[in-house]
Amino acid sequence: MTAAVMREELLEVLAEPKTGAPLALEVQRHDGDQIIEGHLTSSATDRRYPIVRGIPRFAGDDNYAASFGEQWNDFRETQLDSVTGHPASENRFRNETGWQDEQLADRWVLDAGCGAGRFAEIAARSGAKLVGLDYSNAVDAAARTLRAYPSAHLVQGSVLEPPFKPGVFDYAYCIGVIQHTPDPELAVEQVVRCVKPDGRFAMTIYARRPWTKLNAKYVIRPITKKMPRPVLRRMIKASMPILFPVTDRLFRLPVVGKVARFTIPVANYVDREDLTREQRYEECVLDTIDMLSPTYDSPMTWGEVESVLRQTAAKAWRFNSRVPVNVIGTR
Ligand SMILES: C[S@@+](CC[C@H](N)C(=O)[O-])C[C@H]1O[C@@H](n2cnc3c(N)ncnc32)[C@H](O)[C@@H]1O
Repeated sequence: MTAAVMREELLEVLAEPKTGAPLALEVQRHDGDQIIEGHLTSSATDRRYPIVRGIPRFAGDDNYAASFGEQWNDFRETQLDSVTGHPASENRFRNETGWQDEQLADRWVLDAGCGAGRFAEIAARSGAKLVGLDYSNAVDAAARTLRAYPSAHLVQGSVLEPPFKPGVFDYAYCIGVIQHTPDPELAVEQVVRCVKPDGRFAMTIYARRPWTKLNAKYVIRPITKKMPRPVLRRMIKASMPILFPVTDRLFRLPVVGKVARFTIPVANYVDREDLTREQRYEECVLDTIDMLSPTYDSPMTWGEVESVLRQTAAKAWRFNSRVPVNVIGTR
């Protein structure tokens, strides 16, 4: 197989978005236990949801997250530890969830907003029944990333209307996604709702500080997010042979460098000594696109996240970091 494909066991966790109704499976094409094409029909509404290339689709590609779908299909490999040879994603996953392989093995684990699957491949490697959810066709990129893991599934749908039975996952994490939804508070609530009582959740969200919106990226986003996406991507790629070497020097200068990083919207991570110059260049193109193209970018304060969590069934949580906001908890 060239991509991860759903198997019937996924029905243990799936439900129709909004109604929560059970779904009946109709298989049109399969390869052994791998379901490649088919439909899922709701017992409540009779609505049929297609399974395309082994992925149940509760959303189409043409939605506010489409820029991410293009980005992750274009730069699928850039941040994958299995490709770069550096454990950058694994280190983040361990630090931002606190979870180890032996906890996750054989458990239902949700990656809400999986992108190209940089964290999903870490969770899947533990033997978890990993479900990668994404609203964009990044799920097709993630399916390729996870092709070696028979216990991994992908689902195209929204964390705001999760296509899952409530409280069905043992673990759910959501890294770098919530600020990119139109309703960050609801997204926090829904991640908690996906987890069973005594199950664990972890979320990382961009932090908002009093000066955050003065950052150059937020100043130019009103223009860049409205530009035709292929034009913006071409402009960023074409200007990078100049912007990268210039920012590479500028961002390293004492004091001036700090001001330059705040006022020049180029994601050149000069402190990343684990990466080669070529890897940093590619990451710079990817993250500059990631900063300037999303429809929504609404960072939160840790206090806002705390007050949402107080209204959920979560019983304990701790802020591992306040900038960015990284919270780990138990429902
Ligand atoms: C910045 S990327 C992060 C991807 C991945 N978590 C990572 O850190 O590499 C944000 C992802 O959230 C997804 N996303 C945005 N809104 C979503 C929603 N309502 N439900 C599920 N995924 C969503 C986007 O499609 C995109 O792949």
